[in-house]
Amino acid sequence: MLNFELYNPTRLLYGKGQIAEVSNLIAPGSKVLLAYGGGSIFKNGIYDQVKAALSDFEVIEFGGIEPNPHYETLIKGVALAQREKVDFILGVGGGSVIDGVKFIASAIYFEGDAKDIILKIRRVDWQTMPYGAVLTLPATGSEMNNGGVVTIVETNDKMSFSGEPLYPQFAICDPTVVGSLPIRQIANGLADSFVHVLEQYITYPQNAALQDRFAESILATIIEVAPRILKDPKDYDAAMTYMWSCTMALNGLIGKGVAQDWVTHAIGHELTAMYGIDHGRTLAIIGPNLYRVMIDSKKEKLAQFGKRVFAISGQDDETIALEAIEQMVAFFHSLGIQTTLSAYTDKYEDAADRIVKRFNGRNWTVLGEKKLITLEKVNEIVKRSY
Ligand code: NZQ
Ligand code: ZN
Repeated sequence: MLNFELYNPTRLLYGKGQIAEVSNLIAPGSKVLLAYGGGSIFKNGIYDQVKAALSDFEVIEFGGIEPNPHYETLIKGVALAQREKVDFILGVGGGSVIDGVKFIASAIYFEGDAKDIILKIRRVDWQTMPYGAVLTLPATGSEMNNGGVVTIVETNDKMSFSGEPLYPQFAICDPTVVGSLPIRQIANGLADSFVHVLEQYITYPQNAALQDRFAESILATIIEVAPRILKDPKDYDAAMTYMWSCTMALNGLIGKGVAQDWVTHAIGHELTAMYGIDHGRTLAIIGPNLYRVMIDSKKEKLAQFGKRVFAISGQDDETIALEAIEQMVAFFHSLGIQTTLSAYTDKYEDAADRIVKRFNGRNWTVLGEKKLITLEKVNEIVKRSY
């Protein structure tokens, strides 16, 4: 295992009724920018709960942050926050809103072209505006991590950025919000959190026994809870387990002390930028094929995953590894998620060329935990995913 430092300052409030606690978590007298998405919070009562909790604060609203949030929208939020001189941001939504808030919080005090935060700098190390999150969609882990993903529509760049000042001050996770989620979004969240664990776990043996067990327990829990939460999003205990699994999958803990992959995400982000496919679904298209193409360097961990998570037995690592990939695909199908690009678009034939070109343009020529995923491999992975 590698040396590591663990730092996560986000105060997490989990459970029913916790949204009311917002009033105790923001400094009295603060002027609050209330940021949200396309309006689901008006239909499911979350807006009313948040407004009631903010009754003692001056509130400026900024709605309309879209899924896969756009720089072009967020920059308007930056101008509003600056003009109104707010001193705290509260994001109410899924990963897109929380990531959007991370961008606004970064850009407010940034001198220069804010696009560069995403395109060039990508590591935020300056003062940012403090913010909190009320999570309405368990999936990304954004509520307890310091990363965000924003799309520049003009150039079709969907890029991530991160930095220590970007942890939420607090995150409120009330599982009753799951009750109003469309099944499609719950399936996305299950696939996304599942692949977050895989990106940190399906690498090579790193003498990280506890990290492995953390990862395997989250994977097994997601598999176990998936049919329950898909059947009844109002099942409180299932919603709690689903939500907590998503937070734990990407709050930084399970990736400590181990080399990580993240190429499924890098390719997946391109598929969202090119075709508008939901984030979680892009991972289900790419992930299994990345593991097939990279079987030589990943087979020991794939076999461990197969034995411990899917109870596959046998002697030969490669056979177990290949069966584990099949079971992974079967899991995505059980969520109602299709795992080929051609199931989502007719215009897939130049996808591999376009992605390779974009990676090359960014100098992303060797990727993955051992830098073995070359552009040739990327090409092969995407083509296999057609
Ligand atoms: O915009 P509204 O009207 O709120 O509707 C949203 C949106 O249409 C709806 N929704 C959210 N909560 C709801 C609800 N509908 C009914 N009831 C509720 N309680 O769901 C739709 C999708 O929301 P979105 O926030 O886009 O989904 P998700 O949480 O999956 O976030 C995806 C974004 O996060 C990024 C992805 O790339 C993508 O841009 N990611 C962020 C990460 C991070 N910050 O660590 C890591 C991830 O790997 C991912 O890349
Ligand atoms: Zn993800």
